[in-house]
Amino acid sequence: MDYPQALINTAALQYNLDIVRKKAPRSKVIGIIKADGYGHGVVEVAKLLIRGVDSFGVARLEEGIRLRQNRIHCPIILLSGVSNKADLEHASTHHLSLVIHHISQLNLLQQVILPNPISVWVKVDTGMHRLGFPPRQIYEAITIIRNCSSVSSIIGLMSHFANADRSSDSFTQAQLEIFNHLEINLPCSFANSAAIIAYPQSQLDWVRPGLMLYGISPFKDRTGSELGLKPIMTLKSQLIAIQHLYTGDKVGYGSTWICPESMPVGVVALGYGDGYPRHIENETPILVNGAPVPIIGRVSMDMITVDLRTQLNAQVGDPVIAWGEDLPVERVAHCASTIPYELVCQVTPRVPRILV
Ligand SMILES: Cc1ncc(COP(=O)(O)O)c(C=O)c1O
Repeated sequence: MDYPQALINTAALQYNLDIVRKKAPRSKVIGIIKADGYGHGVVEVAKLLIRGVDSFGVARLEEGIRLRQNRIHCPIILLSGVSNKADLEHASTHHLSLVIHHISQLNLLQQVILPNPISVWVKVDTGMHRLGFPPRQIYEAITIIRNCSSVSSIIGLMSHFANADRSSDSFTQAQLEIFNHLEINLPCSFANSAAIIAYPQSQLDWVRPGLMLYGISPFKDRTGSELGLKPIMTLKSQLIAIQHLYTGDKVGYGSTWICPESMPVGVVALGYGDGYPRHIENETPILVNGAPVPIIGRVSMDMITVDLRTQLNAQVGDPVIAWGEDLPVERVAHCASTIPYELVCQVTPRVPRILV
C-alpha cells in the first residue's frame, strides 16, 4: 500500500456543494476546479460534481482539455482566457469558454476565423488590478466582442474581489458598487467562496465557489467545520520507524532538535516531496493514532520526525494524519505561515488521491 495518501471524501464534496446551493439559492454555480481541483484531483472532483453544478472554471487551456479528454461535457470556462491563436483554436475545438479580460485578446478574436465560434465571459476590473478591462473601457470591449465573428455569444460579465475574506470591508463594498453601477444587460458573476458567505448581496446570477467546495474556510479566524462545511481531504501516512533516543541526541538535518531527555522519536513517511511544507514551525501538531503529537526537527523530502513522549505505545505502521477532519488544514496552514489553498494545491503527484 502507498503512503502517504490523500483520502478524498466524496460524500462531503456533495455536501459542501449543497451548502453552496443553500447559501446562494438563486444563483447558478461555476465550480472552480483549477490547479487539479485545488489538489484534490480535477477529473475525480469534476465527475463527482458534474450533476450539481452549471459550469466548471479552470485557469488554463491544458486543464480544460484534460477534462474534455475525460469526458466532462458540461460548460467549462478558462478563467485566464488564452493569449495566442493556437490556444484560441484549441479552446474552440474543445468547446471551452473563455474569459476575455485584456485588449490583446480582443485583437486575437478579431483576427482569427473559427469554424466553431466560441462563447465568452467578459471581465471587468473593479479594483483588484489583476485581470479585467477598466470600467471605462468595458462598454467598448463588449461592442467589439459582439462584432467578432469568432464569438458565438457573451455568457456574462464577471469581476473578482480582492478582500472578500475580510468582513465588512469597505474596499469589497466599493468593488461591488462599481460593478452594480455598470449599465450592462448581461448575467453577472462576482462572488467567490468568501463573498458567497460574507457578502450575500454579491451572489448575483452566477457564483464561483472554489475553496468552500473542498470544505475549507476562506476566513483566517474560522475553520471550514465552524462554517458548517466538511473537509474533503485527509492527508494520511504512517510511522515507518521509532527511535529510542537519549538526552542530547540530535534529530534530523541540521541537528536542530536535541532530545531534552530519553524519549521515543517517530519517523513519519511524509515530507516536502509530498507537499508537506518544509518551513513549518516546530511543535506543529500531527495526529498519531488520532492523538496530537508535535513535529520536531526539520521536515525532509520523504520524512518528518515527531515527539512520541505522549504516545509510548505507538508502533511502526500506526496511522498518522497531517490534516483532515480532526486536524483542520487551516490550523496547519497557520503553523506554516501560509493559507490552506497553498497546502492542498501543493500536495505532489506522487501522493495518490483515493476516493472514499
Ligand atoms: C476568478 C476566480 N473566481 C473564483 C475563484 C474561487 O475562489 P475561492 O477558492 O476563494 O472560492 C477563484 C480562485 O482563485 C478565481 O480566480
